[in-house]
Amino acid sequence: MRTRVLPFLKGKKQKNFCYFGPQSFHRRRPKSAKRLWFFCSKRSFLFYCLLLAPSIALSQSDPNPALVTQGKYLAQAGDCTACHTSLGGQSFAGGLAISSPIGTIYSSNITPDKTTGIGTWSYDDFARLMRSGKTKQGYIVYPAMPYPSYSRITDPDMHALYAYFMLGVQPVDQADRRPGIPWPLSMRWPLHFWRWFFAPGAQPFTAAAGQDAQVSRGAYLVEGLGHCGACHTPRDLTLQEESLTGDHASYLSGGGLIDGWVPVDLRSDDTTGLGRWNTQDIVYFLKTGSNDKAAAFGAMGPVVHNSTQYLTDSDLAAIAAYLKSLPGSSSDTFTYDNTETTALDSGDESKQGAAVYLASCDVCHSANGEGYREAFPALAGNPVVVADNPSSVINIILDGARRPVTQTSPSALVMPTLAWKLNDQQIADVATFIRTSWGNHAAGVTPDEVAHLRKTYKPVPNRELSP
Ligand code: HEC
Ligand code: HEC
Ligand code: HEC
Repeated sequence: MRTRVLPFLKGKKQKNFCYFGPQSFHRRRPKSAKRLWFFCSKRSFLFYCLLLAPSIALSQSDPNPALVTQGKYLAQAGDCTACHTSLGGQSFAGGLAISSPIGTIYSSNITPDKTTGIGTWSYDDFARLMRSGKTKQGYIVYPAMPYPSYSRITDPDMHALYAYFMLGVQPVDQADRRPGIPWPLSMRWPLHFWRWFFAPGAQPFTAAAGQDAQVSRGAYLVEGLGHCGACHTPRDLTLQEESLTGDHASYLSGGGLIDGWVPVDLRSDDTTGLGRWNTQDIVYFLKTGSNDKAAAFGAMGPVVHNSTQYLTDSDLAAIAAYLKSLPGSSSDTFTYDNTETTALDSGDESKQGAAVYLASCDVCHSANGEGYREAFPALAGNPVVVADNPSSVINIILDGARRPVTQTSPSALVMPTLAWKLNDQQIADVATFIRTSWGNHAAGVTPDEVAHLRKTYKPVPNRELSP
């Protein structure tokens, strides 16, 4: 069957023959040619497609390389690999442990393997899962899979993604791990209700009337594939994001801790958000992993490494334009104050934490708290430093951080681990110092908070950041 059908399809030079489905195929064909297809019902057509898909992937006779390439780009924009490739594992074979309040969830094998992956899924199965979380087997996946955001993916993009996962990804034989969630929480049927309440009416993205085309493209990427809100939007007790679109003030206003890191406010607040970043700052940060104001670390490192560094300049500019269109909610403004700079420059260590800063931080972040352009981030006026929750600041001092490696900045600059050198009091002092100097105004940090994080924080090994 394979040898007969494939040359036939190819001979007709029908692009995207599988992925745009029979209707659009008929729309594009001249009438006379349609007759050739009288024997080919929709169902058998799809059947041929599915049967052929893996063999096409392995032979070089890919029917539409452009579609697969586009799908790869979209998979990068959606950062599928972040969850579907485990530490040291094969691409997209799943098995990554994701902790949730009810237990550990493991990501699925989404390679086109026919027994353990999604090799037998039709386009409709795939699109249904991406938009409503419902698997081919009929159960609903845990919302650790950000389908409420992915539901916004447009049909043409969904087709390209499907083409990539069927034809551009190597099948891997690796069975999915069962979630480590105890009964009765392990029952999946309540997830139907969760979806019904919190992610109803999955709709592909449509631009708001009168919206600027660039902002609209940015909204599509951020709210949809980029699922930036999965980390940067606060969640309710029932775990749904408080909002999924930019027209709500809570959207991207700063999320809950991810592995001990605080996903900061991305709205235009002057002190806690991106108010003082211009669009070029945002583009540069997402492309290279740093700019002269901040550097990506913690949970944001892999996002830059796997995803945003690959986006085209025009898509990054669209994301930046969209983020800049989100108004802030606070009227606080940042004004640089050089009191601490003058004191440190003259060797005055009287402010609590100043001595630790001079001994352990000054060499990289500088006495004026402004760091060194792109290499060492500024601490003055940095939203990460003044975030209400000081966990990022404490954890980065305890455990250090490594800037993500990107095509444009291949050397990973390192912030050293200082847990061995500084005690809880010293870390509390220096954290308080940076949160209250150079014009920063945030609450101080106590030694108890440091002691708690020292005990509970477990660094997550970041395979993505290895050079
Ligand atoms: C933040 C983590 C995360 C990201 C990002 C993510 N997924 Fe998932 N995905 C999951 C988890 C976890 C599951 C399994 C959930 C469960 O068992 O209920 C899953 C399940 C799936 C399934 C169902 C597979 C099956 O056999 O049931 C598909 C298909 C899928 N994801 C595709 C994708 C694609 C395509 C992307 C990128 C556009 C993506 N995922 C990005 C976490 C993620
Ligand atoms: C897996 C969680 C996660 C996802 C998904 C995520 N971020 Fe982040 N992001 C973080 C964390 C944590 C930080 C704070 C650490 C840092 O500044 O690098 C952060 C920081 C940032 C910063 C720097 C803010 C500052 O003031 O320093 C920007 C800009 C940003 N994210 C943009 C985005 C965009 C755009 C997306 C979607 C394409 C996104 N993030 C998706 C976790 C995430
Ligand atoms: C050897 C140079 C070096 C020293 C010493 C150092 N840092 Fe850093 N620091 C860095 C680098 C590099 C980054 C960016 C890390 C990343 O992107 O993963 C960073 C990031 C940070 C950040 C996150 C800012 C952001 O937005 O990216 C904070 C907060 C911070 N350092 C505080 C401190 C404090 C406090 C000390 C002293 C106790 C200190 N650092 C000592 C190099 C250093």
